[in-house]
Amino acid sequence: MSRVVVTGRVPQPALEALTATHEVDLWDAEDPIPREELLRRVAGADALVTLLTEQVDGELLDAAGEQLRVVANVAVGYNNVDVAACRERGVVVTNTPGVLTEATADIAFALILMATRRLGEGERIVRSGAPWQWGMFFLLGSGLQGKRLGIIGMGGIGQATARRARAFGMEVGYHSRSACDPEVEAELAATRLELDELLASSDVVSVHCPYSEATHHLIGEPQLAAMKDTAYLVNSARGPIVDEAALARALREGTIAGAGLDVFEQEPQVHPELMQLENVVLLPHLGSATVETRTAMAQLAADNALAVLAGEEPPTPVRG
Ligand code: DGY
Repeated sequence: MSRVVVTGRVPQPALEALTATHEVDLWDAEDPIPREELLRRVAGADALVTLLTEQVDGELLDAAGEQLRVVANVAVGYNNVDVAACRERGVVVTNTPGVLTEATADIAFALILMATRRLGEGERIVRSGAPWQWGMFFLLGSGLQGKRLGIIGMGGIGQATARRARAFGMEVGYHSRSACDPEVEAELAATRLELDELLASSDVVSVHCPYSEATHHLIGEPQLAAMKDTAYLVNSARGPIVDEAALARALREGTIAGAGLDVFEQEPQVHPELMQLENVVLLPHLGSATVETRTAMAQLAADNALAVLAGEEPPTPVRG
């Protein structure tokens, strides 16, 4: 029987799968586990099932000890895990791709609709109790039909967002390290573009690439300046891909028309200037937040941990 540390609450089926064959130490709270407590608990663990709120670095791996075999992150993004430090110690890293694709694309598209149709502003007006009535020019937004969605990062979530855009009558451009399969390009009528071309020609830009040193502040002042002043920026990937201070300036000065964010640079803190602006929609990292998706993510993480503990290849290892 191996020792598995689960660093936060996860849906019951995943927990049951782990406890059926292993000793499980669960941080049974909604709030993230304090670092000191985490360092203490991981000692002697064979497997860690981690949430994206925990930093898995050399210090944590050393605190766990040499017997540690797997870090199973319950997220598709794994920028909270120092993969090189895991590799050096022979620890397998896994993530949860695929199972959250549709839910995250839903949130990206919800942000697109909220930002372009000014839904947050409308809701705030109604809830404030301020007088309002239908008017020819009241809270006019921007339609999507015939407009171009520019997708940065055309993996599964980018493609699923593109599919939604096609259903709304949008054209799709994308910028990605590698080209999509020709069948996918044909299905989505998607054109691959250089980043500057995509920024200059899109009416909505949606960010879906992974976060790494290479994508830190990929969208900063020059990129925002390259966008149309009628365009919108949406980020449902990772906060630090967008320079929030530059975004706040661009929104305030009308360099772009609006934005929608589900993720933030210093999560859960939000840049104070963004909080003051009406033309940005702010969501608390809800991309994968459905019962079905979170259940599937936790199950996949459990399956990954169980496979490594059994000496088998895990279903979704982090490679590269
Ligand atoms: C992920 O899996 O990376 C998501 O951001 C979690 O919501």
